[in-house]
Amino acid sequence: MTLSAIEVNGLKQAPAAEGVLPAVLGRWSPRAFADRDVSRADLARVFEAARWAASSSNEQPWRFLVGERHSETHGKLASVLAGFNKAWAPHAPVLILGAASTRFSHNGSSNSYALYDLGAATGYLQLQAAALGLSTHQMAGYDHDAARQVLEIPEDYALGALVALGYQGEPATLANEQLLSRELAPRTRKPLSELVLSAWGTPAELG
Ligand SMILES: Cc1cc2nc3c(=O)[nH]c(=O)nc-3n(C[C@H](O)[C@H](O)[C@H](O)COP(=O)(O)O)c2cc1C
Repeated sequence: MTLSAIEVNGLKQAPAAEGVLPAVLGRWSPRAFADRDVSRADLARVFEAARWAASSSNEQPWRFLVGERHSETHGKLASVLAGFNKAWAPHAPVLILGAASTRFSHNGSSNSYALYDLGAATGYLQLQAAALGLSTHQMAGYDHDAARQVLEIPEDYALGALVALGYQGEPATLANEQLLSRELAPRTRKPLSELVLSAWGTPAELG
């Protein structure tokens, strides 16, 4: 007997922090995905949220390749997954690959904030998904060269994370014990005192 999806969801919830957005506290990265499609309307909502992220010079360098289950793009994205990601991520009904243009469109100069901006947009996507009751899981574990090749991504686009999107599934559907134990592990974070400083090495005094 393992925990149900609802029980795990409770376990993964960040501790209540007054005034923090519910989607921030409730978002976490499952590996079990339900056998349930995501509506096109909800897909549009998560990308709309990503669209409104801030970016350097408002370049909006991000591009998202999206593959819904049974599509050629989903198959291609699943085929480039690496290591243990191969055991769970192909079951997600939507796979998304983020890429970012590394050159500014107005003058062709190098945009060293391209991946930073893609990360911000992906964060918006994740939070919008959480607000809609959807789950996301980012992955760096994929064959980047193969992805560039099979998805025909131009050289001047840097590759970001591959994102699994769908509804959280039952932990018991995971393929092995390693995946199950990760699904049930508590979420941990560094303390704010380590992350927010008033001078280098000095924790900022916060609320
Ligand atoms: C850029 C990035 C790459 C990641 N790569 C993987 C991956 O390849 N496989 C995986 O299972 N999880 C991956 N993760 C998920 C992280 O392990 C996870 O977000 C982290 O442990 C925090 O857990 P939480 O998202 O549930 O809060 C990745 C996350 C990010 C942001």
